[in-house]
Amino acid sequence: MKSAQDHSLAPANSPSIAVIESLQDYVEGNLSLLAPVERCWQPTDLLPNLTAEGWREEMQRFREQARLLPDDLLVVLVGNMITEEALPNYAIALERVARDPTGATETPWALWLRGWTAEENRHGDLLNAYLRLTGRVDMLAVERTVHHLIHNGFSYGNESDEYAGLIYAAFQERATRLSHGNLARLASGRGESNLAAICRKIAADEARHEVFYTKVVRELFRRDPAGAALAYRGALKKLVAMPGGRMADGRDPDLFAHYSGVVSRVGVYTIRDYAAIIQHLNEAWDLQGLQLVGKAAKAQDYICRQPGRYAELADEIEGRTGETPTARFSWLFDRPS
Ligand SMILES: [Fe+2]
Ligand SMILES: [Fe+2]
Repeated sequence: MKSAQDHSLAPANSPSIAVIESLQDYVEGNLSLLAPVERCWQPTDLLPNLTAEGWREEMQRFREQARLLPDDLLVVLVGNMITEEALPNYAIALERVARDPTGATETPWALWLRGWTAEENRHGDLLNAYLRLTGRVDMLAVERTVHHLIHNGFSYGNESDEYAGLIYAAFQERATRLSHGNLARLASGRGESNLAAICRKIAADEARHEVFYTKVVRELFRRDPAGAALAYRGALKKLVAMPGGRMADGRDPDLFAHYSGVVSRVGVYTIRDYAAIIQHLNEAWDLQGLQLVGKAAKAQDYICRQPGRYAELADEIEGRTGETPTARFSWLFDRPS
């Protein structure tokens, strides 16, 4: 297990919490970004119907089609699923921001947090069921990895700043939308239309979530531009932490690095995407146009330089000849990928 980091939390009466609290009406006005439950898709809508008369034939067609996926796309899918399955970690992290002290509070922030969690919960469920039914991966190894990841937890590394959780959520919703969308395209290219449809459905949810968090952070920039700029700089100082960063299967000590290597090699999520996300958020939050002084102005400068910096890094990495070393994944019965 990773050693505990020393992150002090903001005191409950901090000015940043007061600003977040002041957003209750704003959040209420955006609760429509959650889909009404009756109109939401559920995993069952996208999986073979095991209660139907012809379930055997349906399952057979489903499994044949899943065989079209190459190992590297399976690795990406398993890693994405594990990341979604660690939802308790992200709900815990966001609870610090969108407080729901009773677990059934009726404030707009609490309603958002529970509605968002309920929508996200379908993502891991659906990908888990898909993978199990394909019969192509070692579900026991996958489940162990989920167990480890939830146990190891998740830290975006900047817990002393309450705004950081929301900035982080805006970033990650966009990153997951991109990643599920790219995997849909690659699966479709291989003829696996079932998985393509699944990933597109999930990506569409992430897109709504992204709109919510991006709007909320834009409002933070409006109400407290200096505080928001400092928090955003704090998030970018380190590479924005990946939600599955602490995944472990009890075997490969570099599991996350190996998974990320495959994700980047197949083009599902690259350093160029990272640069583009920062660029997009900078525009959405009008970083160039903020009137700031002192430390906040320096932070603004730093933030505006990051898309260029990562784009250059991407050029450098792509210019290197060479090959990502392959690793053996317990998820795939130790086949290399
Ligand atoms: Fe998700
Ligand atoms: Fe999401």
